[in-house]
Amino acid sequence: MELITKAPRGTSDVLPKECAKWQYIEEIVRKTTKAFNYKEIKFPTFEHTELFERGVGQETDVVQKEMYTFLDKSNRSITLRPEGTAGAVRLMLENGLYGGVLPLKYYYLISCFRYEKPQAGRLREFHQFGVELFGSCEPQADAEVISLANEFLNNLKLKNIILQINSIGCKDCREKYINVLKKYFEQNKANLCETCLNRLNKNPMRILDCKIKQCGVVSKKAPVGLDYICQECNAHFEAVKQNLTAMNISFEINEKIVRGLDYYNRTVFEFISNEIGAQGTVCGGGRYDGLAYELAKENISGLGFAIGLERIILLMTAQDNQFKNSDLCDVFVANIGDMGSIEAVKLVNALRKKMICAEYDILGRSLKAQMKYADKISAKYTLVLGENEINEKKAQLKNMQTGEKTTINIENITEIIKMLR
Ligand code: HAM
Repeated sequence: MELITKAPRGTSDVLPKECAKWQYIEEIVRKTTKAFNYKEIKFPTFEHTELFERGVGQETDVVQKEMYTFLDKSNRSITLRPEGTAGAVRLMLENGLYGGVLPLKYYYLISCFRYEKPQAGRLREFHQFGVELFGSCEPQADAEVISLANEFLNNLKLKNIILQINSIGCKDCREKYINVLKKYFEQNKANLCETCLNRLNKNPMRILDCKIKQCGVVSKKAPVGLDYICQECNAHFEAVKQNLTAMNISFEINEKIVRGLDYYNRTVFEFISNEIGAQGTVCGGGRYDGLAYELAKENISGLGFAIGLERIILLMTAQDNQFKNSDLCDVFVANIGDMGSIEAVKLVNALRKKMICAEYDILGRSLKAQMKYADKISAKYTLVLGENEINEKKAQLKNMQTGEKTTINIENITEIIKMLR
């Protein structure tokens, strides 16, 4: 019989040490979103396939090549979410949330699935911290969402991340621009890759995003979208920039950012690092004022971003980020003899009831081995319960970092907790 010990390609296990990093990131997510007053939402891992086809867009790589789609036992076409925006908009529409107080400000921590060629920073199952804001078409909303992403990255103490922004205008400006762009790429057809030749009629703006060198050369000289945006879109973009500047947020304009998903209009943005290899986009987002209409004929503006958490972990590792590990054991209660073991379990049990992370020996080890173990699990404090300690009801609580010892009454849980906190 073959042993089953290999996970599917493009997935990854997270071992306890790495989990501490994930927990830290999640803590920063909660603190940052709280400061901006965004509320958490949760929605299903799978949705009707049509939601992504209509939401993300039929012509996108995500829908055409990357979705995990299958028929369920009742022959319904189901898709594992490749991203969070479509699901979040569906949640907002289905629950009629737009009928209440506006704007609606939500965040989510989710797993996503895309059938892509795995490499560093690109997985088939990956995780996103995402934010969506509904009900405001004002540029202040764009600036708020961008500043939330910026603050999150700052709070994680990550460095050398560049914010790039662009405006792809509204439907009208885009139509004008796409015509000009099509003409330009038609004239340079000979130098485009096969994928881009396919994009030429369906989605020529995506050619600007192509990572293939020869297409990049053609794109470099392509007409620039910002030259074709209407007055209103231009004023909107100017105001977004003004608001970012008012918050001291540095940014670059990159006219080549068009994003890989079809729902965007006006502001689009990415945060990019060049310290984690080819997949350097840690955050992508933008405005999508037409998506709720596309799905349910409701005119509700929307915008948001998503940050790839595996890429954040890569960056934390690359920058040797000294994160605060709150996952350490508070106290290890070592013991000698049968009586010691019983007293230790009593004490540990009482501490655990008060949410103190406490451990004692459950392997029948010698005192020396117990202390070695306490060291290995980085216990912050230790104490030893032997015959003397039990008789006198007193023990020495040792701070493992400073070596300082304090005599405590082993029956006085409140006093012990005070010491540990
Ligand atoms: P996206 O650019 O497709 O946008 O993905 C956002 C982020 O998810 C990327 O910048 C990257 O960090 C991470 N990511 C994407 N694909 C992978 C992968 N295969 N492996 C690892 N990480 C990945 C969206 O998903 C939009 N829903 C963002 C948004 C929210 N726009 C408006 N609201």
